[in-house]
Amino acid sequence: MSYARTYEASQRDSSAFWARAAEDIDWFIPYEVVLDDTRRPFYRWFRGGVMNTCYNALDRHVIRGRADQAALIYDSPMTGQVQTFTYAELLERVAQFAGALRRLGVEKGDRVIIYMPMVPEAVVAMLACARIGAIHSVVFGGFASKELATRIDDATPTVIVAASCGLEPGRTVAYKPLLDDALELAMHQPAACVILQRPELEASLIDGRDLTWDEAIEGAEPTECVAVLATDPLYILYTSGTTGVPKGVVRDNGGHAVALKWSMQNFYGVDPGDTFWAASDVGWVVGHSYIVYGPLLHGCTTVLFEGKPVGTPDPGTFWRVIDNHRVKVLFTAPTAFRAIKRDDPTGSYLGDYDITPLAALFLAGERCDPDTLNWAADKLGVPVLDHWWQTETGWPVAGNPLGLELLPVKPGSAGVPVPGYRVDVVDDEGSIVPAGDIGSVVIRLPMPPGTLPTLWNNEAGYESSYLSRYPGYYLTGDAGFKDADGYLSIMSRIDDIINVAGHRLSTGAMEEILSDHPDVAECAVIGVADDLKGQVPVGFVVLKTGVVRDHPEIVAELIASVRARIGPVASFKHATVVARLPKTRSGKILRSTMRKIADADHWSVPATIDDPIILDEIGEALGTIGYPRG
Ligand code: COA
Ligand code: AMP
Repeated sequence: MSYARTYEASQRDSSAFWARAAEDIDWFIPYEVVLDDTRRPFYRWFRGGVMNTCYNALDRHVIRGRADQAALIYDSPMTGQVQTFTYAELLERVAQFAGALRRLGVEKGDRVIIYMPMVPEAVVAMLACARIGAIHSVVFGGFASKELATRIDDATPTVIVAASCGLEPGRTVAYKPLLDDALELAMHQPAACVILQRPELEASLIDGRDLTWDEAIEGAEPTECVAVLATDPLYILYTSGTTGVPKGVVRDNGGHAVALKWSMQNFYGVDPGDTFWAASDVGWVVGHSYIVYGPLLHGCTTVLFEGKPVGTPDPGTFWRVIDNHRVKVLFTAPTAFRAIKRDDPTGSYLGDYDITPLAALFLAGERCDPDTLNWAADKLGVPVLDHWWQTETGWPVAGNPLGLELLPVKPGSAGVPVPGYRVDVVDDEGSIVPAGDIGSVVIRLPMPPGTLPTLWNNEAGYESSYLSRYPGYYLTGDAGFKDADGYLSIMSRIDDIINVAGHRLSTGAMEEILSDHPDVAECAVIGVADDLKGQVPVGFVVLKTGVVRDHPEIVAELIASVRARIGPVASFKHATVVARLPKTRSGKILRSTMRKIADADHWSVPATIDDPIILDEIGEALGTIGYPRG
């Protein structure tokens, strides 16, 4: 069916639309109501329905003839391993690990934190939780102990599953000491920690609390799927909010399964049996939705890639994976293609591989610059399609719905609203702005299945963060515009969130860390443009009166503390000491003007500025650390 007709059908009668999509999911007991809107503005999909996400992702495919099809291909240039798990094999491992979790006391509704790199056991652990109705919360490996501790205290897990180490180019990241430190910091303590010992670096275990993965599964009884309600949580995924405290985005079981299954065919255009590869990390929403759940719910083969687009070993790595595993659709962040383009501008490595299985490349996670999109389209010879979504929505909000129909590509735009979503751009008063005008991007309630129903243990926070600003709408936090054809362009955030190499980070959280330094009186962190990572954070600090220490020494301490407290993923490598910060007369720091100076964008002196001279000082300070670039 065409995009226009499908979109119209989703708006005309959304219950009928999603009821049809729900036929592709196996229900143990049918739902009573498609959309429960009795508690507006809180909506729940498929109330009364009973199912199991793991059953839909694995068991039913094994029962219906996919037992010997590859479900998961682990491809790791970091270890030189390629390992294939058929649907039957993956099911066996998941059922056994589910039994192991049970034996450790994990029951339906309990939380399990998973702090693992890109190894098959991470996927097994996620699906095992789903199997027994436990709620997993995966924490990205690039986060440090403090971030992990915050999540442990919020999710209060019964068990934590971790690995002894992760592998980054040129260094082995010892995960276990990070976990031990996190548990020192956390108030909550789990009953047990299951540690996957990787041969590259084995971890020492704490008696009585830690056991190895092998010990955990030894003699564990394979477990059947537990029936859960469609509205029961499947997982919690923490994401950066406007403060240093991350938000626990909750995903339900039923709506999630329906939406992801629908999106695989209708949005990404893949069939059951095809290979789908999301080159992301299981610690992010892209990994949850399109490394694990989406492809498996749809009966696809999914690729779990432990490596980088460049340097592991070269910029031809992606083409090798596409060739070796016959990848039909690749999904990654623009930064990955910027890295490939930087290292191999002519695309010479493509000549070594057969990428004819590739039908399309989807990009998301950050704004995609037209240069990168055009370069990829030119080199790959397939549609390169930007699309836009967020942890909260769980699946695409806007894009080019290849599965329905390939629409004209407009570089710089994220595409058109996906069926199920009504996206508006509004001004401060909540009025829809004319085409082409920038405003706040909002989604009309109710949002479709699969989107967040709430924040973990924080319904009030859910309401105040997302639903209160414009009644009847969900606030995305993004700013952008729609063109006359309804194509949406996402330009920036309206809050302090920045996007570094497709990773979502809060500058507010970094400012909290800088402020904690004993020599710092006040500070500001802004996201400045970066050729590779899209944005990187830069810090400005004003020292307390009387501090006479060397500035480089203080800056090095600040950089080290952001790395220690948030993690290497913050990419916080630049900070500078300034005499004063530019402020409005009412004391608000002029971050956007600072950003424009750093990016060499056109800027003018704000009328509300307290003392314009400070802007020259900021320009000079930026010069000392190499900004503006280029
Ligand atoms: N565990 C531990 N450390 C990690 C990590 C993990 N899972 N992932 C990243 N890090 C570390 C990196 O080693 C790096 O450390 P360093 O400061 O010592 O060099 C730091 O965190 C920053 O990582 P990253 O921003 O990824 O930069 P990079 O220089 O290592 O790689 C790219 C740059 C572009 C190659 C990389 O960002 C990439 O592959 N991006 C693909 C897009 C993507 O996965 N996006 C996710 C959302 S779709
Ligand atoms: P995350 O929740 O980590 O997936 O980050 C979501 C945020 O990344 C969005 O709110 C946007 O700010 C940004 N983002 C994601 N995809 C795009 C895109 N295609 N274009 C522009 N920004 C994007």
